Amino acid sequence: MADGSRRESWASRLGFILAAAGSAVGLGNIWRFPYVVGTNGGAIFVIIYLIIVVLVGYPMMVTESVIGRSSKRNPVGAFKALAPNSLWWIVGALGVLTGFVILSYYSVVGGWSLAYVFRSIGGDFGSDAGEMTNLFLGHVSDAWVPVIWHLVFMGLTVAIIAGGVVKGIQRWVTVLWPVMGLLILVLVIRSVTLEGAGAGLAFFLAPEAPSQGWGRLLIDAIAQSFFTLSLGMGVFITYGSYLSDRDNIPSSAVAVVGLDTGIAILGGLMIFPAVFALGFEADAGVGLTFMTLPAVFATMPLGGLFGTIFFILLSVAALTSAISLLEVVTAWLIDEKGWSRGKSAAVLGAVIFLVGIPSSLGFGPWEGVSIGAIGDTLLDNYDWVANSVLLPLGGLLTAIFAGWIWTAKSAQDEANKAGQGLRLGGWYGPVLKFVLPLAIAFVMIWGIIEHFVS
Ligand code: PHE
Repeated sequence: MADGSRRESWASRLGFILAAAGSAVGLGNIWRFPYVVGTNGGAIFVIIYLIIVVLVGYPMMVTESVIGRSSKRNPVGAFKALAPNSLWWIVGALGVLTGFVILSYYSVVGGWSLAYVFRSIGGDFGSDAGEMTNLFLGHVSDAWVPVIWHLVFMGLTVAIIAGGVVKGIQRWVTVLWPVMGLLILVLVIRSVTLEGAGAGLAFFLAPEAPSQGWGRLLIDAIAQSFFTLSLGMGVFITYGSYLSDRDNIPSSAVAVVGLDTGIAILGGLMIFPAVFALGFEADAGVGLTFMTLPAVFATMPLGGLFGTIFFILLSVAALTSAISLLEVVTAWLIDEKGWSRGKSAAVLGAVIFLVGIPSSLGFGPWEGVSIGAIGDTLLDNYDWVANSVLLPLGGLLTAIFAGWIWTAKSAQDEANKAGQGLRLGGWYGPVLKFVLPLAIAFVMIWGIIEHFVS
């Protein structure tokens, strides 16, 4: 039923911030950010990335949130409510579809992470990077084990979402955030106090020329900012729809962007010093987390303990993001099709689990997997389509819609409704109408061309 009056809302302002930051902080910060930093030459990427987060990420997050709060609907319903009798709802539908695609492979990686908690406890990690590569390839190319972990991960996600906005999402992020914070601090302290940590700190913090050129760096930075901030697919429309008019969106978005960026930086501080101190390579790409780090842990004192802590952290971070992906799709079924929350979450979870299975099997021996071929798996292709095409496209269309159709003024008024706290200034209109669409379109098109040419 599209009945806005019975919609749940966050039980406190902190509820939204923790849920939204929980969505933002995930595999993107701990798995993806360090490896794109690594393959783009380190600190120079970090600097450009930070600029993009401020210039593109923050205004985009505010814009999606105000669309959600103003309409009090899921992404499809939100566009229908703000632009009745038009085709703009398709942008919302694109978001729902994107959430579906991302969750299908996100859950596979979340499952690897859960499995690695147990591998670490079981003492499977050794100090030889080659052996750890084989361990990982062996793990992912098994037909059954990763699929079962993918099921477990999806089951946890469904269980939380079935609980509802306050009793499911808010309750769990409130418990899981302190756990994440503590684990990450322990790991950062361990990493930066290793002998020889300086080289890793320099790589991460002292800029040198981009290692793959400026074009690649810009494309990767935009894609990373959308993915890590959960932008371009309606997470913030959906979470924003549970906000009340008293909540200050510009202030809350500063907190969410700050937490996400802070955790990405801590992720780098946790990974690079250890990787360099113990003599490993930083540019291992997708495999950095699962192939390089286990070897790094095995080499350091109490490594078994720290390895276990690391993979628990990664799993928890992934879970608080996965629930937001499922919430977008669930809210759509509840609002638009009138399904109950429990039924929506369960049915969607089952379907997304099935759709994710080929991503998991894509590493099977029948694919003739070698390390190089990891860049060509189905999972990689989904990751590319989602982050380099679907999220930027969703963001681009949302910005055009908000700036030109709904109008920047309506968006700004909605954002500035709350009495106290930050207010959006005159900069917002021009940024929304010109900077966002041009920057996103340019980099997205460039990225697509480059992908097919190279
Ligand atoms: N932001 C999440 C991460 O960094 C991933 C995500 C993308 C979640 C899009 C929701 C929507 O891991």
